Amino acid sequence: MVKNYSIAIDGPSASGKSTVAKLVAKKLGFVYIDTGAMYRAFTYAVILNGLNPENEEEASSLVNKIDINFSDENKILLNGKDVSREIRDNLVANNVSFIASYKQIRLFLVDLQRKIASNKNVVMDGRDIGTYVLKDANLKIFQVASVEERSKRRYLENKEKGIDTTYDDCYKNITTRDYIDSHRAFCPLEPAKDSIEINTTEMTIDEVVDAILVEAKKKGIN
Ligand code: CDP
Repeated sequence: MVKNYSIAIDGPSASGKSTVAKLVAKKLGFVYIDTGAMYRAFTYAVILNGLNPENEEEASSLVNKIDINFSDENKILLNGKDVSREIRDNLVANNVSFIASYKQIRLFLVDLQRKIASNKNVVMDGRDIGTYVLKDANLKIFQVASVEERSKRRYLENKEKGIDTTYDDCYKNITTRDYIDSHRAFCPLEPAKDSIEINTTEMTIDEVVDAILVEAKKKGIN
């Protein structure tokens, strides 16, 4: 039987997980799975359907009724349509942590995440990958950075993507999401006991990627 490898990268908002995870996956020839994009796509579907994201019952009514997947080019698809741009909008960013706190929705998306990852070598990033989704991952990284640095990174990223936000908007959104994500009852954001913490505040992207590749090598992943 062919053995598959998995790398879990968790951490708070804008700690650089997706940029790094994408590059690590590319270097190793693994598939990259952005689970945050899936929570964002669900949130976008709730808004599109005129449902209230703060109402658990209303939002959860879409479970099993919508299709969330990735295209061959790794674009996030909602019912077959590329929604990569829409899921970065402020309305989605400001509501996604409510959606991600609802158990039924999490179970629905975790099931999809495990299916997408099955029989593949993967790098998956999110909040609960090492603690829940891929509990047996070969390598678990917990990426952190100061809230000021994360707000700055998100502000610059949004600016580049043409999304209209200020540094203060980003700071507020990130601190609010940090709080909701780490205080929810089911699968809160927390490091897995066997994870390796990397503080990226003063590190370049390449330095973080190299640090993860060193850890991967130590675990026999290559
Ligand atoms: O903004 P950032 O790229 O850091 O976040 P994201 O990875 O796109 O995730 C957006 C939101 O989805 C998070 O703030 C969490 O509320 C939720 N999420 C989660 O609960 N569990 C995951 N595995 C991934 C994301």
